[in-house]
Amino acid sequence: MAPLLSLLHQAATRLARPHTLRAVRLCAARLSSSAPALNRAVVFSENGNPTQVLSVKSYEPLPPPPPGALNVRFRLSPINPSDINIVQGVYPAKPTRVTISGKELSVGGNEGLAEVVEVGDGVQGFEVGDWVISGKQQAGTWSTTRTLRADDTIKLPAQGLSEVNAATIAVNPATAFCMLHEFLDLKEGDWVLQNGDRLVGQAVIQIAARKGIKTINFVRTRHVIANDIDNLIASLTSLGANHVFTYESLEDRTLGKNIKQWTAGNPIRLMLNCVGGPTTLAMTRYLGENAHLVSYGAMSKQPLALPTSAFIFKNLQAHGHWQSRWYKEHSRQDREDLMDVLTALQLKEPEHEILDLSDEDNDGLATQKLRHALDRMERPYGRKILLRL
Ligand SMILES: NC(=O)c1ccc[n+]([C@@H]2O[C@H](COP(=O)([O-])OP(=O)(O)OC[C@H]3O[C@@H](n4cnc5c(N)ncnc54)[C@H](OP(=O)(O)O)[C@@H]3O)[C@@H](O)[C@H]2O)c1
Repeated sequence: MAPLLSLLHQAATRLARPHTLRAVRLCAARLSSSAPALNRAVVFSENGNPTQVLSVKSYEPLPPPPPGALNVRFRLSPINPSDINIVQGVYPAKPTRVTISGKELSVGGNEGLAEVVEVGDGVQGFEVGDWVISGKQQAGTWSTTRTLRADDTIKLPAQGLSEVNAATIAVNPATAFCMLHEFLDLKEGDWVLQNGDRLVGQAVIQIAARKGIKTINFVRTRHVIANDIDNLIASLTSLGANHVFTYESLEDRTLGKNIKQWTAGNPIRLMLNCVGGPTTLAMTRYLGENAHLVSYGAMSKQPLALPTSAFIFKNLQAHGHWQSRWYKEHSRQDREDLMDVLTALQLKEPEHEILDLSDEDNDGLATQKLRHALDRMERPYGRKILLRL
């Protein structure tokens, strides 16, 4: 978006002026659709290490959309851990296939904010300039443009979302919200244990805090930057976390006593886990009777072994949550409602880096830039990357 339009857009978003916002978006969409289009996609022809197999390829402008479809231009598309797993070939979902210069390739990306640039015949409820996300999983969002079926497209609320929040709303905040609401009817004052401190974990903290639900969070000790752990604790606390500990504290015998004091002896009945392995097992010690352990990730790549006694004597219930399954099993209306609820929560933008490849005219140089960024992201404590193609 041109700088002036971008400023106007930010101002309209902050001031929540839907008409101004729509006008700015329309204007920007027209400018971007009339600009000489360099369409790019991040593709791979075989599974493997993303820093070796992913490349950036230009493709021809899209033809007008067929009836019932929309042409969209992606504005920002995140690289999530599951996207990396798809490239590696270790995730149970298939990427979108595209043909570029006569070669069939897989295009990455499941999530991203797009803007409607052309509306096909017979489509109702969408206008040029609308902000949308794909309701279908693995839509190949690491592309400049795509044609989407209108039936598979979800319109985002016309106000209240920044570009970054809109681009990252459908996976992580949605997962956090569903896990906090689908397994138990938590009430104000209830407690939740969790071990993720990034996108999902931070969304859990914020959504829980808005409802007066309290969180006890376990994180890794950070060695990379001095005092980084203090910064992390301060930042999670500012989002609404009640207590933040490193995994080493799980060995501290006084922790159980403290937890009992904070919870006034009320049982903790929900734990959210994206790590697995021994630290997750140690955390389950603090769950009360009839608790639900919900696993949604396995970042440590270690199995989760649970004591049989917890199932027998404490009636522990262990579940998995997969947001893709939630989307498959729910109606379009449910998804739109979820987006409305998440927008209204006004979550803080996740910490991120925007990798802008749109001004790089050479595919080879754009590929190099992408691979360097992936390498940075894969290092411990790397930041979330959002692609602008
Ligand atoms: N099931 C679903 O529907 C669903 C939806 C969204 C996300 N997920 C999954 O949830 C996980 C987190 O997603 P995210 O977007 O929040 O990812 P992220 O931003 O990359 O965060 C990853 C989290 O895992 C921690 N972590 C990474 N490696 C670890 C290790 N070896 N031991 C302990 N902790 C480790 C990180 O801790 P540090 O901050 O210390 O690095 C961070 O808290 C991923 O596995 C993702 O695939 C699942």
